[in-house]
Amino acid sequence: MSIDEIKKELASILNAVKTRIEMEKGFGIDTLTLSKPVTECSSRSAKSSTKNKPIEHSTTGKHPGDQTSVTGKGERIQILEALQNEMLVCHKCLLGKTRTHLVFGSGNPEAHLMFVGEAPGRDEDLQGEPFVGRAGQLLTKIIEAIGLKRSDVYIANVLKCRPPGNRNPLPEEIVLCMPYLLKQIEIIQPKVLCALGTFAAQTLLNTKAPVGTLRGRFHDYNGIPMMVTFHPAYLLRNPNDKAKVWEDMKKVRDFLGELSGKDSKR
Ligand code: URA
Repeated sequence: MSIDEIKKELASILNAVKTRIEMEKGFGIDTLTLSKPVTECSSRSAKSSTKNKPIEHSTTGKHPGDQTSVTGKGERIQILEALQNEMLVCHKCLLGKTRTHLVFGSGNPEAHLMFVGEAPGRDEDLQGEPFVGRAGQLLTKIIEAIGLKRSDVYIANVLKCRPPGNRNPLPEEIVLCMPYLLKQIEIIQPKVLCALGTFAAQTLLNTKAPVGTLRGRFHDYNGIPMMVTFHPAYLLRNPNDKAKVWEDMKKVRDFLGELSGKDSKR
């Protein structure tokens, strides 16, 4: 190897290290864990390891691209608005009476990546937007750490109305509210879903398995690969697990990167 080639190689390694440190800092991780060598080669192998992992719980054999019912952005916006109007007058459960605002969901109606959380908290109830409180600020960092903006993705919750005092969603509330989330997923047609925490993961996968055993790999939600990871509110209480979420999100980033080359946005 010539001196110039060595210089070039060193520059590219330093660049990769710099990028990674920046991303981890942006996400709130202040200790650097170098479990794999940071080279172009390792990022390729990370990609292929994601690709080769079997997607679990395949139920329909459908793929995201197979969903052809809704296509244009304008059409999606209209259908989402109609769904929101339907939900504004929903009183299937008592939460409609105690909420301040319906928290329908927000983001890019053509997002490749859609996050699903649990239920609105106090800040979300007051503002009518998902993930705007402390957990939401962390979610924004997580999104930015994988090179996206909040406006690139779509964010929704299992429940659209705040459970009083931020109590856990009740099973009957989940059952009654679920059709709305399923409709949102059908309209947005994300390429990848990311379930945040126990309620989103267990509800979408119809399982009682703990989030700790579900996280870190892609499952199948009706043909859509779905990453499960810890909820940002859990991370605020357990910051040591941020590194695990970072690992999960890198798999999502690499998956999106594989789908559309460098540009993982629509
Ligand atoms: N936690 C959630 O699960 N959803 C929100 O919108 C806010 C906090």
